[in-house]
Amino acid sequence: MDELLRESGEEGNQLKRTLGPYGLIALGIGAIIGAGLFSITGVAAGENAGPAITISFIIAAVGCGFAGLCYAEFSSMIPVAGSAYTYSYATMGRFIAWIIGWDLVLEYAVGAATVASSWSGYFYKFLHNMGIEFPRQLTMTPWDHIHVANGKVIPEMINGVANPALANSVEVSGIMNLPAVFVVVLLSLVLIRGTKESSLVNGIIVSLKLMVVAVFIALGWAYINMENYTPYIPQNTGEFGHYGWSGIIRAAGIVFFAYIGFDAVSTAAQEAKNPKRDMPIGILVSLAICTVLYILFAHVLTGLAHYTEFKADPTDKLAPVATALKHTPFIWLNQSIILAILAGYMSVILVMLMGQSRVFYSMSKDGLLPSFFSNIHPKFKTPWHSNLLFMGFVSLFAAFVPGSVVGEMTSIGTLLAFILVCAGVLFLRYKMPNAPRGFRTPLVPFVPIMGILTCLGMMVFLPLDTWIRLVVWMAIGIVIFFVYSNKNADKLKG
Ligand code: ALA
Repeated sequence: MDELLRESGEEGNQLKRTLGPYGLIALGIGAIIGAGLFSITGVAAGENAGPAITISFIIAAVGCGFAGLCYAEFSSMIPVAGSAYTYSYATMGRFIAWIIGWDLVLEYAVGAATVASSWSGYFYKFLHNMGIEFPRQLTMTPWDHIHVANGKVIPEMINGVANPALANSVEVSGIMNLPAVFVVVLLSLVLIRGTKESSLVNGIIVSLKLMVVAVFIALGWAYINMENYTPYIPQNTGEFGHYGWSGIIRAAGIVFFAYIGFDAVSTAAQEAKNPKRDMPIGILVSLAICTVLYILFAHVLTGLAHYTEFKADPTDKLAPVATALKHTPFIWLNQSIILAILAGYMSVILVMLMGQSRVFYSMSKDGLLPSFFSNIHPKFKTPWHSNLLFMGFVSLFAAFVPGSVVGEMTSIGTLLAFILVCAGVLFLRYKMPNAPRGFRTPLVPFVPIMGILTCLGMMVFLPLDTWIRLVVWMAIGIVIFFVYSNKNADKLKG
C-alpha cells in the first residue's frame, strides 16, 4: 500500500487535480443515471413488482448507501486511480484482487452491453416516431420475439390471461440487436482515439439527464391515474419473484443496476483537488440525489401507464418513458426526451468501457493478465488492444443476449463486488487499524455488515439462471488464475 501511494505521488505520474466536490458529484450522476432508470424500471415493474417498484428502489438504495459509505472509506484511504481492484490488491492480496477484477467485467463490460441494448430500444422508437421503420428483427436478440396483428405489436397476456388476439397474429423473432452493436463500436473507437470527456461535455450531459428526469416528474405528476396503483402490490402469481413481496425484492436486485456508477467517482481520486474530503462527498451526494429522483420517477412512471403495458413488446419494455408519455398531452416532448436519453446513455457506456479497460490495464501491469491488455497505442496513448477486444466482447453480448439477462448479470456481479468492498473495509479495520483514513465509515462494524447483508439479500432473490451464470463466470476466472495469472505475476515479480 505504501508503494502504491508513493507511486501515485511521484512527479510525472500525476494526473491534473481539477475536480472539486461539484465536479465529482457531476461525474457520479453522469455515470449513474442511465438504462437502469429509463429502461429497467419498466422491465422490473412489468415483470416483478408492479407499482411497488418504488419500494424496490428504496431497498436497493439502502444497500447502495451502506456500500457507498464503505467505498468512501476505501477511496479516501487509497486515493489512487483504479477501483475496487486496486484497493483490494493493496490490502488483501492477489487472489482476492483477481476475484474482484474478474467480477468487475460483469459490472463494466456486461453493464455496457445492457445500456447498449436499451439504447437500441429508444433508437428504434426515435426512428419510428419519424415514420422510419427500422426492421424489428434487427433490434432484437434471437431470444426475443413479439406478436404482430394488423401491423401492431400485441401483448401476449392481458391481465394475466392469454390475449385472444394472439390467434390471428404472426410471431416475429429477433436476429440480432444491430443498433446496440453500432453504439458499442462507435464509443469504443472514440475511446481508442482517447477523447477525454471534458468536464464541460459531462456537465452538459448531466444537466440534460437531470432535466429529463425533472421534466418527466413535474409534467407527469398531474396525469397520474390513481387506478394504476390498485393494487399497489400485485398479487404473487404463484411463481417466486413474480409480484408480491418476493417480486419486490427481486426487482430491487434488478433495479439495483440503476445505482451502479457512484463507485466510478472513486476512479477519479487522482484528479480530485482534495480527495480525502471530496471523494466521500462525491460518492454519497450523487447517490442521495439519484435515490430521491428515482423514487419519484418510478412513482410517476407506474402512475401514468399500467404496469402491464411495459411488457407489451421488447422495445416498449426498453423504452417505458415513451410508453408512459402516451398518457399525457406532452407526447410532442417525446422526441426531445428520447434524444436526451440517447445522448445520456452514451456517457454511461463510455464510462463503463473506460472503467473496463482501466481495470484490465492495471491487472495486466500486475502480471495477472497478458501484456496484450496494457499495450498502448503509439499515437493515441490508449490501451487500444484492450479496447478492441472489449469492443468485440461487448458487441457480442449486446447483439445476442437479451437486455434483461445482461442487466441481471451486471447486477449480481456488482452486488458481489460491493459485498467484497464492505468486507474489505471491515477486514482492514482489524488488520490496519492505524492507517490514515480521510473518511471513516461510521458505525463499524454495523454499516459494513448491513451492506453485506442487504446486498446478499438482493442477490439471493435473483433468478437461479442468473446465479448459474455468475458461478460459471467466476469458476472460469478461478481456473485462469491458477493456470496462468498467479504464475505469471510471480514471474513478473521475480
Ligand atoms: N446506473 C447506470 C445505468 O443505469 C449503469 O445505466
